[in-house]
Amino acid sequence: MAIQAPATRPANPRFSSGPCAKIPTFSLDLLSDAPLGRSHRAAVGKTKLKDAIENTRDVLGIPADYKIGIVPGSDTGAVEMALWSLLGERKATMVAWESFGAGWVSDVVKQLKIDADVKTADYGDIVDFAEIDFNTDVVFTWNGTTSGVRLPNADAIPADREGLTICDATSAVFAMDLDWDKLDVTTFSWQKALGGEAAHGVIVLSPRAVARLESYTPAWPLPKIFRMTKGGKLIDGIFTGATINTPSMLAVEDYLVALDWAKSVGGLQGMIDRATANATAIWNFCDAKPWIANLASDPAIASTTSVCLKFTDERIQDGAAFAKAVAKRLEAEGVALDIGAYRDAPAGLRIWCGGTVETSDIEALLPWLEWAFEAEISAQ
Ligand SMILES: Cc1ncc(COP(=O)(O)O)c(C=O)c1O
Repeated sequence: MAIQAPATRPANPRFSSGPCAKIPTFSLDLLSDAPLGRSHRAAVGKTKLKDAIENTRDVLGIPADYKIGIVPGSDTGAVEMALWSLLGERKATMVAWESFGAGWVSDVVKQLKIDADVKTADYGDIVDFAEIDFNTDVVFTWNGTTSGVRLPNADAIPADREGLTICDATSAVFAMDLDWDKLDVTTFSWQKALGGEAAHGVIVLSPRAVARLESYTPAWPLPKIFRMTKGGKLIDGIFTGATINTPSMLAVEDYLVALDWAKSVGGLQGMIDRATANATAIWNFCDAKPWIANLASDPAIASTTSVCLKFTDERIQDGAAFAKAVAKRLEAEGVALDIGAYRDAPAGLRIWCGGTVETSDIEALLPWLEWAFEAEISAQ
């Protein structure tokens, strides 16, 4: 049964999981204060970088004694910097529930060759944190961007742990409550929930992470781009705006603008509420339709940013081809861009629900999902 195309279209069809939709008020004019063509070491550049650090602290509620650095290589750069600088002092536990986490496992086990317990869960599930020994260094991804599941909270991480927790929070930050007391190293990039540009990563260090950096030297050489210490002391400049190498001041300006916008919608809580409203609209839709379901096995761990969906209709002959065709049809119609599941993830759709996405756009998209589903069922 072909159904009629819905009357309403999303005003913004950008539902990519990274780079994500820019802030709803975005225009290039908003970046006109970027100090382009100036040295990032000049006062104007340094002030912008320092503002980016302190506004990050402000919006995210990061404790005053935590260090925040802007580093090269986006989130990947920040994670690698942490792994290569901190691990090896003790045993590690590598936790993965989707492809990005699996990538960090491979780096630690195959490249760094560190003695590690590897704990994994299938797509749609997470690892039980009660089973983890937090006297080891624990590396995990808060929100599985490619599997649509997240850690509901950090309650299982003990306050008196001896190891460090290293958390890739790139698709959780600015959308979920991160418990800073439980996180020793947190990394993210600007391209996700703030819709920023992807050039730089952010690394957040607890006092315990700084103590490790200042007391432990890895057995392997570290390239300049990863080095956070000199002569056994933290290079403080990295955490006050004197970046290791040259940043894009356009990307920095864009981040500052996005942070201001986040403040204007209620700061972190406003952003969390916006993501939750977006995801809830999709969850309700799935509850009402027998042919589509959340990939997350349990609502308690369902992501509110990268919502991953699977088709469950028995009439579907080739799941992967079907999901691809639905995404293609929606893209061709101009109502949803970039919503195919990640290449290593189970077949389906992935719809970004972070705070830069308007709930009205998610609501407008949902009838189109049904339209494309019915069209593809008829076309089989
Ligand atoms: C959980 C996670 N980790 C790492 C990355 C890589 O981020 P970047 O491209 O900013 O380095 C992504 C990107 O989607 C991600 O979702």
